[in-house]
Amino acid sequence: MFEVYEPREDSFMLSGHVKKYSKGFVLDVGTGSGIQAIAASEKAKLVIGVDISRDAIKLATENAIKQNVKNICFLESSLFGFFKKIEAKKQFKNNCLKNLKNKKIQNFLEKKILFDLIIFNPPYLPQDEGIDDKSIYGGKKGHETLNKFLSQAGYYLKENGKILIVFSSLTKKEKVDELLKDYCFEFKQVDEKKLFFESLFVYLIKKSSLLKTLEKKGLKNIKKFARGNRGLLYKAILKKKKIVIKTKKPESKAKGRIANEIRWIKILNRHKIGPKLLFSGRGYFAYEFVKGDFILDFIEKNNKENIIKTIKNVFNQLYIMDSLKVDKEEMHHPLKHIIIDKKPVLIDFERCKITEKPKNITQFCQFIISGGTKVLLNQKGIKLNKDKIINLAKAYKKEQTKENLSKIFSILN
Ligand SMILES: C[S@@+](CC[C@H](N)C(=O)[O-])C[C@H]1O[C@@H](n2cnc3c(N)ncnc32)[C@H](O)[C@@H]1O
Repeated sequence: MFEVYEPREDSFMLSGHVKKYSKGFVLDVGTGSGIQAIAASEKAKLVIGVDISRDAIKLATENAIKQNVKNICFLESSLFGFFKKIEAKKQFKNNCLKNLKNKKIQNFLEKKILFDLIIFNPPYLPQDEGIDDKSIYGGKKGHETLNKFLSQAGYYLKENGKILIVFSSLTKKEKVDELLKDYCFEFKQVDEKKLFFESLFVYLIKKSSLLKTLEKKGLKNIKKFARGNRGLLYKAILKKKKIVIKTKKPESKAKGRIANEIRWIKILNRHKIGPKLLFSGRGYFAYEFVKGDFILDFIEKNNKENIIKTIKNVFNQLYIMDSLKVDKEEMHHPLKHIIIDKKPVLIDFERCKITEKPKNITQFCQFIISGGTKVLLNQKGIKLNKDKIINLAKAYKKEQTKENLSKIFSILN
């Protein structure tokens, strides 16, 4: 049991911006006393306020009636939970729509519920031991409820809709910034207030152009997956399948890398190399998710026979690349460049370049005889003669033929 949150500094700060940005259909998450929802109702066609607390819903409804606000309705719901329930439509009709005479609004909401503005003054403080108050504590670190909200908010927001949030320095601003980028949003700070113990921030958030593009393609659950030196990877679901989207990190100065990678994946896919490219656009591309282990983990988990088979398979793929006169680069240190499930899949082609003498195979020879890898292979009973491999790699470098590759294979045992 917890008390309904009485409006304070953060509420007043946010409500000023709510008045400015309200229009069309507005959702106020964690409505509490209903302060934001009522502020939004001045300019909006319809406002829905949700809260996890039944007491809050009661109080907010009373407050709206007192102020004679008609275009508003309040529903008990944890975040967007209400909108996901099958029963929700019926309840929604009975609780909200029956008072609305406007047919256009009714039709709109009966199809798919999308908002022009979503407001959230979340519980944002890090949890205090032993006290359970969902109106102020946002989880152990303070940002957990906000994280959950951001992971779903995009679904309920119109393409050009906006989100307004307020939070405190105690929630950790860098973490909030990181979360927003993880979910592919763009944002700007529109207000800041220094209080005695903390600072408060108001953010105006919208969908990035990449997010809009990906949503139009039917992608769901878009979330950051990994960060490389230059690239940023998102994972998502498309027709129930996991996929990966690669784009450039906004801060990266490297030019043309994504376009280069798209070009090479297209060529290499024809030779059954690389993850399957699904689609691409300006500055991004999407490919099938490759599940499996990176090469060293794979070696650690597998037996001699499997390891040798896999290493030969990698060599064969690299031979094709050498024959195409393309240098992948970084194959002397391919720790995150090869994923092995049933067979090895090479990833990361952003640095591919045409060259007369590609070094893919010679670099991979270097890798298998380098310190850590050699020790690991040794433990699995694969004893490599360093000098012999160096000599065979030199011979291959002079003449990049299948015959010279077979000679390297012959000492892999
Ligand atoms: C900081 S108060 C904000 C209240 C009001 N919007 C304001 O600006 O004053 C946070 C509100 O979020 C509600 N809340 C907490 N967790 C929630 C959840 N998972 N779903 C919906 N509301 C939640 C709390 O009950 C509380 O009313």
